[in-house]
Amino acid sequence: MTAKIKAVGVTKAFSSGDRTVTALHDFNLEVQEGEFVCIVGPSGCGKSTFLRILGGLATPTSGQVTLVPGKNGAPLQNIVFQEYAIFPWKTVLDNVAFGLEMRGIGKAERYATASEWLRKVGLSKFADAYPHQLSGGMKQRVSIARAFANDPEILLMDEPLGALDAQTRAVLQEELLRIWEASRKTVVYITHSIEEALLLGDRVVLMTAHPGTFKCEFAVPFKRPRTFELTGTAEFSRLNYAIWKELQGEVLRAMEQQL
Ligand SMILES: Nc1ncnc2c1ncn2[C@@H]1O[C@H](COP(=O)(O)OP(=O)(O)OP(=O)(O)O)[C@@H](O)[C@H]1O
Ligand SMILES: [Mg+2]
Repeated sequence: MTAKIKAVGVTKAFSSGDRTVTALHDFNLEVQEGEFVCIVGPSGCGKSTFLRILGGLATPTSGQVTLVPGKNGAPLQNIVFQEYAIFPWKTVLDNVAFGLEMRGIGKAERYATASEWLRKVGLSKFADAYPHQLSGGMKQRVSIARAFANDPEILLMDEPLGALDAQTRAVLQEELLRIWEASRKTVVYITHSIEEALLLGDRVVLMTAHPGTFKCEFAVPFKRPRTFELTGTAEFSRLNYAIWKELQGEVLRAMEQQL
């Protein structure tokens, strides 16, 4: 196995005036090529900060992040955010084709690729619609289709389904599983939901309360392909509870910090 992502001793401090907030402290993570790693941790522990550093949107105060490039020409990473980060003035098709357009890919090819991804996420009928005409779940499908259409080597996802209602989330979790299992991209996926992490991931990494650092990790033993049915099994419940036992203290600590 080859490491696709290596983060060593990553610390990020934010300073304003004479106040410094350490958002992330000495965080280490190695992700193998084709691995789906989920990061779970209490609110404010630095998950988004870490993902932004991986995505090149922020620089660490200390420590190193290495993303190992593979095939020539492919974009290295793409981020999917919790909020629907799609352009309101572009149609659904143009939103999905955006990354390809940025890479200078011709109209016919980028529309063909974008249309194919719209089909995969069940939005073909909405190709010419604008984001304001879509539900939250549909907008998030557009974000996901856009990220996959751009064919990056690494997908960074920051609670992409976090804003959705439980039923829509369950449907999109299954869609994401299906799409990912066909592509096997390297994924770092942030979620508040242990269930989601267990359903989607190969490995679940827990972080401590603020300032966030590595707490422990769990390998996810469930075979693929997976469906939502897995969440009803006794083994799933047992692992879910074992992870919660580890996380609970951190969540309480994070809540106390906010009092
Ligand atoms: N640009 C910034 N300037 C100052 N402080 C920041 C900045 N971004 C994040 N922080 C602080 O860093 C800490 C970690 O924030 P971050 O958004 O990474 O947490 P998170 O784990 O993603 O939380 P959540 O689960 O609520 O999304 C928090 O204390 C936050 O207030
Ligand atoms: Mg966050």
